[in-house]
Amino acid sequence: MQNIVVLISGRGSNLRAILEAIDVGLPLRIAGVISDKPTAAGIELAHRYGIASRVVDHGAYPPDERAGFHDALASAIDEFDPALIVLAGFMRILSAAFVARYKGRMMNIHPSLLPAFPGLHTHRRALEAGVKFHGCTVHFVSETLDSGPIIVQAVVTVRDDDTEASLACRVLEQEHRIYPLALRLFAENRLRITGNRVRVAVDEAATPGPLTSPKLTT
Ligand code: GRF
Repeated sequence: MQNIVVLISGRGSNLRAILEAIDVGLPLRIAGVISDKPTAAGIELAHRYGIASRVVDHGAYPPDERAGFHDALASAIDEFDPALIVLAGFMRILSAAFVARYKGRMMNIHPSLLPAFPGLHTHRRALEAGVKFHGCTVHFVSETLDSGPIIVQAVVTVRDDDTEASLACRVLEQEHRIYPLALRLFAENRLRITGNRVRVAVDEAATPGPLTSPKLTT
C-alpha cells in the first residue's frame, strides 16, 4: 500500500472524502496531514482518524522568508516518505523549486473546469461570465498556478437561479467524487503523463460515468 500525504488549509471536506473512500477500499494510506494554518479544522479530523498531523505555520514566515516556509514544508512532507502529495484545499502558491522537487508526484483539486477560472472566486467568476457549464478539476501540479496535466474533470450545469453558494455546493459534491477517483487511478498505476496530457491506462471493466472524463468506475 502506497503512502500519501494530504496538505490542507481549512475545513478539510476533501480530506474527509478521501478518508471515507479509503474506508471503503481505496488502496492508499494517509501517512500524514499537513496544514499551513494552526486552526485548520481538517487537523482535528486527522486526529479523529488517528493520522499524524503537522502544522507548518505560513504566518510564522515573513514574506522575505518564503524559501524557509517551503523548506520546512518539504521537511515535513519528506518525514512521511509519501509516493504522492495531495493538495486538498491547500491555499498556498508553491515555488517553482518546490514544485520541481515533487514533479509528477503532487496533485491538486481546483473548483473550476481548468483552464477556465484559475485562482480564487471561481464560482462567482463563472456566474459573471455566464457559462452554462462549470465544474472541478484534479490535475498534477506544475510551476504555473492551477495548471498542469489534467487527470479528471466533472461538469456541473449552471442553473438560471444559481447563486455563488448554490453553485459552490454542487461543485463541492463533485470534488468529493473525483478526488478519490483520481487517487484510485494513481493507486492502480494507470496514469501516464506525456507533456501536458494525462493518459489513463484503460480498465476494460470500466463503464463511463455521466459528465465525467476520463472513463471511470465509481
Ligand atoms: C475546495 O473547493 C477546493 O477545490 C479549493 O478549496 C476548497 C477546499 O475545501 N481549492 P475543503 O477544505 O476540502 O473543504
